Amino acid sequence: MSILITGGAGYIGSHTTVELLNAGFDVVLVDDFSNSSPAVLERLEKITGKKFPFYQGSILDTEFLDKVFTKEDIELVIHFAAFKAVGESVQKPLKYYKNNISGTITLLEKMKEYDVKNIVFSSSATVYGTNNPSPMTEDMPTSAINPYGYTKLMMEQILTDVAASDPSWSVTNLRYFNPIGAHESGLIGELPNGIPNNLMPYITQVAIGKLPELNVFGDDYPTPDGTGVRDYIHVLDLASGHLAAVKYNLSHKGAEIFNLGTGHGYSVLDLVKTFEAENKVTIPYRIQGRRAGDIATCYASPEKAKEVLGWEAKKTLKDMVRDSWRWQTTNPNGYED
Ligand code: UFG
Repeated sequence: MSILITGGAGYIGSHTTVELLNAGFDVVLVDDFSNSSPAVLERLEKITGKKFPFYQGSILDTEFLDKVFTKEDIELVIHFAAFKAVGESVQKPLKYYKNNISGTITLLEKMKEYDVKNIVFSSSATVYGTNNPSPMTEDMPTSAINPYGYTKLMMEQILTDVAASDPSWSVTNLRYFNPIGAHESGLIGELPNGIPNNLMPYITQVAIGKLPELNVFGDDYPTPDGTGVRDYIHVLDLASGHLAAVKYNLSHKGAEIFNLGTGHGYSVLDLVKTFEAENKVTIPYRIQGRRAGDIATCYASPEKAKEVLGWEAKKTLKDMVRDSWRWQTTNPNGYED
């Protein structure tokens, strides 16, 4: 029996693949490489010393999914395959709704057809919207302010409704806070498309000289230093959260939601200063106005995941900035190198 990982060549998918292979699970990866590279596959083999089946294609393609479910003996799906750029989702909403929502529905229909009723889903803290206080708990009201956020909300809802309609389903929605860092081998990491939107890849590209300076979006928030506070979590901790969620999912029915965060908030300047001190580099930055849609503070309550899954994040902010920098310096041009 294998675990099917959609979007397995992506940033979080690839690190989760390493975690599952190291824990002795068999995996099958699916990816269309729309935001990832085929080079990831060799590197996953290099890190783990294991081979695994891979299928290139889209989860919107029913014939493709038929092929995968017919050839492979799948017991659970971890569903990462989705578009994730907030700004692009505002420009191209149909692209996001089609890929993320229709893709998920197509996948679920095939899972039902092949009687694979276990799914771990890649959701996001974006579903907490702009009005909840931190620490954020899973029972807080959800909302969205952009198409990307709406797709995550809807996908969670669809999965919850499917589980409610048929008690033989197991659904685990994982709400990630801000994943950063990379595998300590320096072989896999985040591959941003074009100029990064997110803070950490922007910092590493400034540090290596690809971008001139960091724009800090706002220093007048009600936070200790005025810059935005987020719950940065090492991608390897996130990967171990998936392993815990898989084990839970395989032994429980129904739908559950878990935050995957550290429970600690760090500001933009905390991240910059820690990055500089740990990696002995300078990050020139300029304070700009606030970015539309940003909130002052967002960090998780990780209590439910700790109590129910027995999981908690272990890595420090220093680990995160060091591993992000190693990935950037060993792969200045991403997987092209
Ligand atoms: N920031 C800057 N400069 C930049 C980029 C970001 O100052 O160039 C600041 C932001 O204003 C914010 C913080 O750094 O205060 C983090 O911003 P990110 O863009 O890295 O992350 P967000 O918290 O905005 O969003 C991320 C993911 C979303 C996800 C959300 C969940 O990008 O997909 O976390 O909380 F939904």
